[in-house]
Amino acid sequence: MIIRLRHVTKIYKMGTERINAMAGVDLDVAANEWVAIMGPSGSGKSTMMNILGCLDRPTGGTYELDGHFVNRMSSSALARVRNERIGFVFQSFELLPRLTALKNVELPMVYSRSDWFRRHRRARAALERVGLADRMTHRPNQLSGGQKQRVAIARALVNEPSILLADEPTGNLDSRTTAEILELFSQLHREGQTIIIVTHEEEVAQHATRIVRMRDGKIHSDRPAAEDELNRAALQLRRSHAVAAAEGDSIAGAGFPEVVPQGARSTSAEARS
Ligand SMILES: Nc1ncnc2c1ncn2[C@@H]1O[C@H](COP(=O)(O)OP(=O)(O)OP(=O)(O)O)[C@@H](O)[C@H]1O
Ligand SMILES: [Mg+2]
Repeated sequence: MIIRLRHVTKIYKMGTERINAMAGVDLDVAANEWVAIMGPSGSGKSTMMNILGCLDRPTGGTYELDGHFVNRMSSSALARVRNERIGFVFQSFELLPRLTALKNVELPMVYSRSDWFRRHRRARAALERVGLADRMTHRPNQLSGGQKQRVAIARALVNEPSILLADEPTGNLDSRTTAEILELFSQLHREGQTIIIVTHEEEVAQHATRIVRMRDGKIHSDRPAAEDELNRAALQLRRSHAVAAAEGDSIAGAGFPEVVPQGARSTSAEARS
């Protein structure tokens, strides 16, 4: 098991109020799983990601990562574990604006002992892996949203982490770019990477191998993605809406063939298939 959480709690104290952001979570994640974490706003998804990513410590319970009890580690040991074993991807990319793609990807290696040449070579390889061989010297504002997220993914992968954690990695992307980033995650998963992502979109969760749903700081359901009925129902509903919309288009188009552009017809055919 790469990850083993037992009875994990996280309590935030705000003045006199206590918020049980995690209220007793047990979770095992094996190597090469791809887990999607879902749940309403405030259900504790990001809190759990911060704990899994060693950015924060649980209030109670135990967290075992690669056989090491993270909850007992000193802050400096925790920082080292984070740097060596965790790759983090955020919704807002979190790239440094003044640095090129290459320099952004080199950053996590600044703390390691590897020399400049080695760092450079590994950063280039990571950018090639995410399909950005031709964008190494671009700065973030010279990249598209999807390309920025690819740089962030390359940066997350450069130290060959045990787990890749992504909190709403497609939250700022349009549907086409989302599909590209999901294809990249699929490729990494095929190559053996263990992945945990938080998402609000059933279409995104569908690509994972397992869906964990949280509610009020607890795990409410945990199933293989193919057996998650809520996911199936939501996608079916979406598809039937798309078909209805496409049929509406073609009915409207039938009476006015001269004003229906070629593109519109092929779009409705795609939506139906
Ligand atoms: N640093 C903090 N201090 C105090 N309360 C916090 C802190 N971080 C989160 N919370 C509270 O803990 C609960 C869980 O928050 P969390 O950010 O984990 O939710 P989430 O599931 O990620 O929601 P969203 O989908 O909106 O991102 C919320 O009630 C939130 O207000
Ligand atoms: Mg969140």
